[in-house]
Amino acid sequence: MTITTCVFDAYGTLFDVNAATQAAAREPAHAQLADVWPAIARDWRAKQLEYSWLRAVADQHCDFWQVTQDGLDWALEASGITNEATRKRLLDLYWELQAYPEAPQVLTDLRAAGMKTAILSNGSPEMLNAAVQSAQIDPLLDATLSVQDVGIFKPSARVYDMVGNSFGCAKEDVLFVSSNGWDAAGAAGYGFQTAWVNRAGAPVDRLYAAPHHIVSDLTAIPGLV
Ligand code: LAC
Repeated sequence: MTITTCVFDAYGTLFDVNAATQAAAREPAHAQLADVWPAIARDWRAKQLEYSWLRAVADQHCDFWQVTQDGLDWALEASGITNEATRKRLLDLYWELQAYPEAPQVLTDLRAAGMKTAILSNGSPEMLNAAVQSAQIDPLLDATLSVQDVGIFKPSARVYDMVGNSFGCAKEDVLFVSSNGWDAAGAAGYGFQTAWVNRAGAPVDRLYAAPHHIVSDLTAIPGLV
């Protein structure tokens, strides 16, 4: 096994969505988020993903921006927030995300080691392009692959197929990195080498496959190739 291609999930893996939500909650205009932002961030993410999976099994694909808005609307209602300006502020975050602090150096080191680097994400091309530009990691990526091109969300094999189709590599030559336990498991079941970035120390998901590596942040990734 020789890894040639390192592929990253986007939200929560390269881009720190929670930090952005926390920062918005500190803004005076959105003071009502001060106490509830952790619950909103948790519910927003959970519903965004739940809706993506349900739409995949129901063959009701839509743009990831749609499930991102729908998930936030559920989360805001659950926390009793009705302020339209706060809703807009939270949604705008997705277009101005920062990378985790260690991400640029990790991508630089991987490329210095001869790896191809890419994002493979549920995000729409527009969302991903905006985040990549905002985080200034564009020069460190060989490709940004969006599920929009295959019309279904992860963990469909049709999504993971996009890597081999783009880079011409075998499954076992890919190290797939995700902070989502279910995504790391899905990619492992598909046949990629996988690393789960388990920042929160969560239990391993009980699914049909398990990640090959579990790391606490991205700094360990170059050592795995
Ligand atoms: C993505 C989500 C699942 O970027 O984090 O695909």
